[in-house]
Amino acid sequence: MKRILVTGASGFVGSRFVERWKGEYTILAPGHGEMDITDVVSVERYCMETVPDVVVHLAAISNTWYCEQHPEESYRVNVEGACNVALASARCGAKLVFFSSDQVYNGNRESGLLTEDIAVAPENVYGRHKLEAEQRVLGICPETVALRATWMYDTEREGMPTHANFVLNIAHAIREGVQLRFPVREYRGITWVKEVVELLPHAFDLPGGVYNFGAENLLNTYETACRYCEMLTGEKNNAIILPDHERYPEHVRNISISMGKANRASGGAIRFHDTLEGLREAER
Ligand SMILES: NC(=O)c1ccc[n+]([C@@H]2O[C@H](COP(=O)([O-])OP(=O)(O)OC[C@H]3O[C@@H](n4cnc5c(N)ncnc54)[C@H](OP(=O)(O)O)[C@@H]3O)[C@@H](O)[C@H]2O)c1
Repeated sequence: MKRILVTGASGFVGSRFVERWKGEYTILAPGHGEMDITDVVSVERYCMETVPDVVVHLAAISNTWYCEQHPEESYRVNVEGACNVALASARCGAKLVFFSSDQVYNGNRESGLLTEDIAVAPENVYGRHKLEAEQRVLGICPETVALRATWMYDTEREGMPTHANFVLNIAHAIREGVQLRFPVREYRGITWVKEVVELLPHAFDLPGGVYNFGAENLLNTYETACRYCEMLTGEKNNAIILPDHERYPEHVRNISISMGKANRASGGAIRFHDTLEGLREAER
């Protein structure tokens, strides 16, 4: 059995990855206390003792708002922590799969689905730190697979950690009869975490580099929310989802990803539903 070290195994993605793959891989899932990624000695010690074949690096400060308020902590965990994991992976000969984010595209002005080869200049702390981490981990371990993940959701799963997310926010609003605003000037993929977890092992075999990893979506976030609400209620014109025309006044925020590169590089194995199809699958 392949030995997979998962950092951030208690988090939203990590807990689901461990649950899905624990019978098929030997999973090493140190808690934050056992292996703090900001402490290079503890990361190297853990890796040298356990000798994983693959390191899936999910540990991070994933809350963009928190990173904006605490840039130094974000840098320590999201950049220096990632470098520590890359150094230890290189030393023990493990393949590193690093989770980056579609937020690296948030300064771009292009429309349509964005590819990995375009120049990026993110406008927030989280996006800038993820971009720097991508560049530095690839400098340390050129075989690293850096995955630019989109906003993820899950339907309610008892006992699993969750964040406020697109699906839960809308389901809650429908239940409580409260209104929610979604930006018209924003385009982004929104992905069912189950698909991310299911397809992740295919990323172990990709050549080193940066890959988008999630659902494509050509609808703006307001339209996506309306279509999802219609799916849940059967009503075309709902009174729950309102358009927000004010958000992102400087430029349309388009962080919608193209999945062509990972799909081609994996021989077609990495293939996500688009956002609407994924929402339909998750509701089945
Ligand atoms: N969720 C999304 O929609 C989304 C979208 C795009 C990209 N991503 C990226 O995908 C990855 C996984 O996200 P997620 O949503 O699963 O994150 P999450 O739920 O916030 O979990 C983060 C994990 O990192 C651990 N951690 C934080 N600081 C640590 C440290 N210094 N040492 C060791 N462990 C530490 C946390 O452990 P404790 O709780 O014990 O501190 C937790 O297990 C992250 O890199 C995130 O940036 C997520």
